[in-house]
Amino acid sequence: MSQTFDISRVRASYPALADGCAYLDGAAGTQVPVPVIDAIAAAYRRGIGNLGGAFAASKRSEAIEADCRQAVADLVGGVADGVIFGPSMTALTYRISSALARGWASGDEVVVSRLDHDANIRPWVQAAERAGAVVRWAEFDAATGELPAGQYADLVTPRTRLVAVTAASNAIGTRPDVAAIAAIARAVGALCYVDGVHATPHMPVDMAALGADFYATSAYKWAGPHLAVVVAAPALLETLRPDKLQPSPNDVPYRFERGTLPFADLAGVTAAVEHLAGFAGTGAGTRRERILASMAAVEEYEMALFERLLAGLAAMSHVTLHGKAARRAPTAFFSVAGLAPRAVAEHLSSRGVNVWNGNNYAYELCQVLGLHPAGAVRAGAVHYNDDSDIDRLLSGVAELAGAPGTLHR
Ligand SMILES: Cc1ncc(COP(=O)(O)O)c(C=O)c1O
Repeated sequence: MSQTFDISRVRASYPALADGCAYLDGAAGTQVPVPVIDAIAAAYRRGIGNLGGAFAASKRSEAIEADCRQAVADLVGGVADGVIFGPSMTALTYRISSALARGWASGDEVVVSRLDHDANIRPWVQAAERAGAVVRWAEFDAATGELPAGQYADLVTPRTRLVAVTAASNAIGTRPDVAAIAAIARAVGALCYVDGVHATPHMPVDMAALGADFYATSAYKWAGPHLAVVVAAPALLETLRPDKLQPSPNDVPYRFERGTLPFADLAGVTAAVEHLAGFAGTGAGTRRERILASMAAVEEYEMALFERLLAGLAAMSHVTLHGKAARRAPTAFFSVAGLAPRAVAEHLSSRGVNVWNGNNYAYELCQVLGLHPAGAVRAGAVHYNDDSDIDRLLSGVAELAGAPGTLHR
């Protein structure tokens, strides 16, 4: 195992990179490395069965599932029995919000933020509407992209039942002071639901240190297959009664899972966690310790790429960068003068550079920034990007200086 971040080794494990594109679209989903592809294929090749059977293939699925709960717990600093699997963070957040809202009464309050992805806003707003609860909004500073934690002292009251906040904006990257916000929630007995979908691939995560009662993340953002998890303390989950089938297990966390889990994909998630644990460090210690060391190296590596990206874009007078928070995930959100974001993305695609355009479901954020409905261009670094990816993006954007105007749509 290497001591430092070895980008050539990392890139070699991603077959998709062989197409020569600069994949700067990781915030919408990363590529998948060989060990993850192999783990999924191996599960199918070996034979899996549904849970609870008397035969070996069923027991293999049980082992895959148990291993995966522990792997995810190690990734975020939770406990295995508090790991809930689901098809997506959006689906899980709807599930948890309806279970929580059963205990809300008219006049109770929930706090959401305009910095968040809509998946950590709308499920809470709709659940609050049904319960007759009041929704209070935390605002981010449009000039800086910061989400001041201090405002929560006013937003949170003795009637607050839940505070939903992101650990990192999937558009402008802002990393709010979640620990401070969660402490304000906790002081009145409110729960804190943290959207870790964008944060998890970019930094070491410790949900206890964040003060997260619930931590949500999607494996497809960190080298895994398309499924998601919410992690919480089993004792907290015991207090909730989600809708479930009569014969399905009622113990925690199973009562939150609907139908049969994708066992082969769970094998892939475990392999993805092992992958994240192996970028750097000595290889010694528990998996949790390896993850923390490895993700610290990832953060450092990605932030160096991000500085290069930001400096390059900031030097272009035809580019407007949105957000400049002090602590950010390595994700840039920008507009090019006179060009619709889609036109910029199409131009970059013609240069082999993959970026995203639109609101990226940061719907409230785009309204606040006056970017509705076309949004902006999003380019972000993940662990398999390198300097040449950034340079190709910068030269592609530089070509657009003085480009003939296409109306913003
Ligand atoms: C910050 C953030 N939260 C939530 C989501 C929704 O995740 P999922 O696609 O798993 O529902 C995304 C997806 O892009 C995201 O970036």
